[in-house]
Amino acid sequence: MSRREIPRAEVMRALDGKILPILDKYTADIEANWQPSDFLPDFGAEGWEEQVREIRGHAAEMSYDLWVTLIGDTITEEALPTYEAWVINADGIDQIEANNWSKWLRSWTAEENRHGDLLHKYLFLSGAVDMREMEVTTQHLINDGFDPGIDHDPYKNFIYTSFQEIATNVSHRRTATLSKKAGNNALAKICGVIASDEMRHATVYISFIKLMFEIDPSGVMSAFNDMMRRGITMPAHFMRESGGAPQGEAFIHFADCAQDLGVYTAHDYVDIYNRLLKEWNIEGMTGLDDEAEKARDQVMKRPQLIKRIADRGRKPRSDHRFKWVHERLAQR
Ligand SMILES: [Fe+2]
Ligand SMILES: [Fe+2]
Repeated sequence: MSRREIPRAEVMRALDGKILPILDKYTADIEANWQPSDFLPDFGAEGWEEQVREIRGHAAEMSYDLWVTLIGDTITEEALPTYEAWVINADGIDQIEANNWSKWLRSWTAEENRHGDLLHKYLFLSGAVDMREMEVTTQHLINDGFDPGIDHDPYKNFIYTSFQEIATNVSHRRTATLSKKAGNNALAKICGVIASDEMRHATVYISFIKLMFEIDPSGVMSAFNDMMRRGITMPAHFMRESGGAPQGEAFIHFADCAQDLGVYTAHDYVDIYNRLLKEWNIEGMTGLDDEAEKARDQVMKRPQLIKRIADRGRKPRSDHRFKWVHERLAQR
């Protein structure tokens, strides 16, 4: 017997009031919140020259791979318009009705906007980056768009963002640790505050899906399986450099650098997947129809398969050199 689908808009309406306590708990007050300027030299105050010199002094202490990772992370953050356009487009998130879903997505976007802003300014001041090359990549990335496979489905939407926010937390957190190791405490702080935003956002999205599971366990289970069967596409998937480089080529090289540094690896993908299985109590979920039971089986088995592939390792890395990094400043 085929399933009686619960209309997504109905679920979203039913949950609108229930997400308010989550928003209240996890939305930071704008005026008390950190802003990019808190971590950057104040050009209106004495001593800014010294502060800029300090930032530039660290350029040579950081490895080429670390610069590439930081630049790739920045470009990913700066393609925020693409992500907002996707997430706000799901059924039940109606900007005109100004419900709590759209309220959250506006506040999420406003918080995320600080990430690219802060990183971009830091990179500009570092002197280690060919800013024009980076900017061209950013414009290409927004121009190319991407399809995370969420259709208009709010379940898929928030499964995707749950995964992605944890992934960005992992990569910013590890970049912070590596920056600290390289003696760059200022940059470690920058990546650290961004990482903690990402974790707070992940908590919100994970909570949304928990509520959705309570109303429509079978529908959410099938959506989760669909998303993981397709695989979570990284937002910067289509990243490319200038000069007619093929779409997505820069992403492969960027991912190589991140993987070699241990900032984000294929094993992290498996760990995040397993974490979501636990967060949502997939194994113990009750009230599933036959189709959703099958989806659960598949969704539970898949991490082992992905891990086996990850354990095999990957192809040797190419000797590609990015146009983004001023090589005279960055070590190999
Ligand atoms: Fe972010
Ligand atoms: Fe994020």
